[in-house]
Amino acid sequence: MLKVENIQAFYGKIQVLRDVNLDINQGELVALVGANGAGKTTLLNTISGLMPKASGSVKFLEKSIDNLLPSQIVEMGFSHIPEGRKLFSGMSVRENLEMGAYPKRAWKKREETLREIYNLFPILEERSAQFASTLSGGQQQMLAMGRGLMSKPRLCAIDEPSNGLAPMAVLELFKIISSLRDQGVTVLLIEQNVKQTLEIADRAYVLENGRVVLEGSSGELLESDHIRKAYMGL
Ligand SMILES: Nc1ncnc2c1ncn2[C@@H]1O[C@H](COP(=O)(O)OP(=O)(O)OP(=O)(O)O)[C@@H](O)[C@H]1O
Ligand SMILES: [Mg+2]
Repeated sequence: MLKVENIQAFYGKIQVLRDVNLDINQGELVALVGANGAGKTTLLNTISGLMPKASGSVKFLEKSIDNLLPSQIVEMGFSHIPEGRKLFSGMSVRENLEMGAYPKRAWKKREETLREIYNLFPILEERSAQFASTLSGGQQQMLAMGRGLMSKPRLCAIDEPSNGLAPMAVLELFKIISSLRDQGVTVLLIEQNVKQTLEIADRAYVLENGRVVLEGSSGELLESDHIRKAYMGL
């Protein structure tokens, strides 16, 4: 479904991505894990068209998306749920959700999709008239995910949803992310929380200093000495 080949990217003269390759098949929950500053967000930004890449190519649904605008990539069914939530803080919960339905094929179905999102996150229906800024951290992450899902994505990339959340909120969120995959949404989950992420993902890529240093099934990676020492403190 997504094929990322030989991506190189720079900020000025500093190279942050080196020959990155990554594939996602339809229906999979694939994780991209790595420490602070590894290049995870940069990689996602190059895929979703928010940042230029120096070389390499990205195909989504077998078509090159290298020269498309971010909005065109969303229209094709790629939803980028950004790091730090990036909510419209002075708009209500419902208005934030509606903003996610701007792609043409999603707008017509927005009432029906809103129902689905409220079923997935009942708290968002209870708080629908409140400003987004008044929600708790966990609720704000749910709203960011709900807004991303309002575009009716085929593939949903979620950048560090667990960041800054209490352990209970992380558990709840990860259950919902697994359930998305069970409902047929393909997911790219970007995280620093390696153990919990590998527990729900099918496969994962490990990014260090802009390079993929390991990839494999989650089971294999959970057993790997490098992962256990460097990311799980074992
Ligand atoms: N706008 C920018 N200008 C210059 N350097 C940047 C910029 N954004 C990121 N970087 C640098 O690029 C590298 C990769 O950053 P990136 O945000 O992609 O990492 P990350 O893996 O997402 O980290 P985190 O888990 O903390 O979000 C880091 O060294 C970072 O300091
Ligand atoms: Mg990041």
